[in-house]
Amino acid sequence: MMILKLGGSIITEKGAKTPTINNNNLKRIAKEIKNALNYQKTSKDFNNGLIIVHGAGSFGHPFASDYEIGKPFNGSEDLEKKKKGFSLTQSWVKKLNSLICDVLREENINSVSIQPSSFVITRNKRIEHANLDLINQYLETGFVPVLYGDVVLDLEKSIKMAVLSGDQIINYIAKKLVPERVILGTDVDGVFNKNPKKDYNAQLITELTSLKDLESMDATTNIDVTGGMVGKIKELLELAHIGIESEIINAECENLIEKALCGQKVRGTIIKKNK
Ligand code: IPE
Repeated sequence: MMILKLGGSIITEKGAKTPTINNNNLKRIAKEIKNALNYQKTSKDFNNGLIIVHGAGSFGHPFASDYEIGKPFNGSEDLEKKKKGFSLTQSWVKKLNSLICDVLREENINSVSIQPSSFVITRNKRIEHANLDLINQYLETGFVPVLYGDVVLDLEKSIKMAVLSGDQIINYIAKKLVPERVILGTDVDGVFNKNPKKDYNAQLITELTSLKDLESMDATTNIDVTGGMVGKIKELLELAHIGIESEIINAECENLIEKALCGQKVRGTIIKKNK
């Protein structure tokens, strides 16, 4: 089984003020996934199974940040405001998921939408409980479950609600279902020592085994409500420590997702255990 994350910056216009989809990327990537699934069917190296987890981009981050979901609330008025923001965010990310499932279906991929806020509970922003039986059953039946970064209920009384990133979902699912590969499609070639969008001298780190490898990283590199690149790497390092390797690749480069899903080595950062 493989897990593929499609970052919000790939499938949406992340900087947009209103929710905006990136249709070109989405349609191209859906085709690449379809080609890879066809290839996997003909090759005995694959057990045929894919879970897709996508980010929220402009369908989630602006709302979650405006309504400060996940921050302690200050009295009942603030709680009401946050509940309104929760409801709004949940609705927009669900719309995004629905659009993505539709585009996958247009490529004859039998996607099924799985809404994290309907079965995941966090405590202090970390997943406390999520029953994966249903996802397993969908996989076994040959469906492609599609999950996403969402807002969820939190057991910590001072916050009550949290933003759950797609990366944390991957961390949780991978620990329980132990995939052969975890692939993260982002809008950069991988992890750099400096912000590659600002600095020409930024160098790609091809292998990462500890947070120490990031000490020289520019603090401006991709920060958002769920922690940007550093948040992502922390989730992946946890997986690396229990032997599950993952790779961050550039989903904007044509065919990279397809090649990675077919088991080929492509340019990117591999997060692995220190031997
Ligand atoms: C964020 O999910 C979820 C919300 C803001 C509701 P992600 O953290 O996985 O999204 P991207 O990939 O950064 O856009």
